[in-house]
Amino acid sequence: MSYPLIRHRRLRRTAALRELVRETVLTTADFMYPIFVTHGRNVREEVKSMPGVFNFSIDRLGEEIERVREAGVKSIMLFGIPEHKDEIGSSAYDPNGIVQEAIREVKRLAPDLVVAADTCLCEYTDHGHCGIVRRTPSGGADVANDESLELLAKTAVSQADAGADIIAPSNMMDGFVSAIRRALDAAGHESVPILSYSVKYASAYYGPFRDAAQSAPQFGDRKTYQMDPANVREALREAESDVLEGADMLMVKPALAYMDVIRTIKDNFDLPLAAYNTSGEYAMVKAAAMNGWIDERSVVLETLTGLKRAGADLIITYHAIDAANWLKA
Ligand code: PBG
Ligand code: ZN
Repeated sequence: MSYPLIRHRRLRRTAALRELVRETVLTTADFMYPIFVTHGRNVREEVKSMPGVFNFSIDRLGEEIERVREAGVKSIMLFGIPEHKDEIGSSAYDPNGIVQEAIREVKRLAPDLVVAADTCLCEYTDHGHCGIVRRTPSGGADVANDESLELLAKTAVSQADAGADIIAPSNMMDGFVSAIRRALDAAGHESVPILSYSVKYASAYYGPFRDAAQSAPQFGDRKTYQMDPANVREALREAESDVLEGADMLMVKPALAYMDVIRTIKDNFDLPLAAYNTSGEYAMVKAAAMNGWIDERSVVLETLTGLKRAGADLIITYHAIDAANWLKA
């Protein structure tokens, strides 16, 4: 008998052998690519904290959609930066609002592209919160849950009216899935699925997104509605209520610091699960790559593979176009 008895390296000897026994395979079909659409004309402006990510006005959206198509990416998520912000986020549910027009434009340019619409108010409210702000009895201010639901439901319906294929509510109010489901059904959109941001933490990783979407809260923070990063049992409760309320897909966000949460949700629920590889995760990789400190391609593909291995069925990522092109090469 010769030792070592067990030789793991036998199956690592060649690239073909490694591929033969590979457990997780990343494909372009797993990716959803976020796009920021802004008011105005002839705008293509790079987001400072997100190199390679731009704000586009609708008249230049076609350029980005062309890149998406060339890479073979099959789904996008739209975020809007409206011209007008107010206390009640009225541009969010304007039938001719920025996202509604963007959805129509994408559907005209690329009818087969899956278009998800982020449903929230923070990009549209002047205070930057994800719902309506009300004074509390103690003299403070907080986001009023049930009043916000009505406006969020209206927003979702207007997005579905414009042609969105998926409604993706990110607001973290209680009961948002049932409120939106009910409103969609009443408007004849019973076939439009809800990708719920079920497990969304109050995270510092959203910083660059808030630069891009100009949606940072003007006072306070989001900790009364987004989850405490320390909790995972609470994630089960959040996911469970969304399932009971009729969510079609679940999400964990952010991704990298929450891989255990992705695994836990995957093991406990059988709905398709998305991981949101957030703006801050993207910015860190980009910064290191631009300094020559890491190999961007290898790090990105390793991270995305890791998210899939952790249990994500789909990955929302700003790296989608690059990753898709690398997977082709
Ligand atoms: C809107 C929303 C946010 C993100 C997605 N939808 C920001 C937030 O909640 O503050 C974050 C996306 C990212 O960081 O890439 N509520
Ligand atoms: Zn929000």
